[in-house]
Amino acid sequence: MSTRKPLIAANWKMYKTPSQSSEFVTAFLPLVQHHTRDEIVLCPPFVDIAAVVAGTRGSHIHVGGQNMIWQEEGAFTGEISAPMLLACGCSHVILGHSERRQFFGETDETVNKKLHAALKHKLTPIVCVGELLAERESGKTEEVLLRQTSKGLAGVAPDLAQSIVIAYEPVWAIGTGKTATPEMAAEAHRIIREQVARSLNRDIADKMRILYGGSVKPENASALMSQKEIDGALVGGASLDPQSFSKIVLY
Ligand code: PGA
Repeated sequence: MSTRKPLIAANWKMYKTPSQSSEFVTAFLPLVQHHTRDEIVLCPPFVDIAAVVAGTRGSHIHVGGQNMIWQEEGAFTGEISAPMLLACGCSHVILGHSERRQFFGETDETVNKKLHAALKHKLTPIVCVGELLAERESGKTEEVLLRQTSKGLAGVAPDLAQSIVIAYEPVWAIGTGKTATPEMAAEAHRIIREQVARSLNRDIADKMRILYGGSVKPENASALMSQKEIDGALVGGASLDPQSFSKIVLY
């Protein structure tokens, strides 16, 4: 039996205003009020963090950012730092999401710098990895996962690494309605976990939570979560509606 507490995270991407976020929280909280089996994290756009933190205060729900930079402050127009996320009440942060890699030039190197900064400030990082469709079709999935995981974790001291969460998100499954089969996801998770053992150590690899993301819905959540390698989910589209997200949390 795994000792890894499942983590279900909502990635709202660029959806919802502060008032829409408050409405979500008001509807969502009663649906998951007594649910302690899984850790629940809401990652709203930056401008909604204050509303979500206020709405979830006193509950067991955590709040996370969707991105951050590695510097603490400075002339970096449009950026947000780890101390700023912490000061707003965040405990988690998503790093290296494929949309950041695809549209905003994130690389394994920048993800690694962000990971170091998150750990330094005691934010729980959710580091995203995953192959493109062309990479899967040309047999490169394993190579991509090994590269993203090893470069992402480069230079991290094992004693600081306990909190790291990895999200396996095959890019071809994000927002497309195509989900990796539970077996495909489990296989990718095994590849990632082996690399974590090589990069850090076996004990940390055994304890590290690896989430699956990519078209997770109420209909497929329990099949995915029944795989012992899958320790939770990072949910985009289906996390925007309180009913649908609560059904995933309660899989
Ligand atoms: P999706 O997004 O659930 O809408 O596929 C997942 C993600 O991008 O984190």
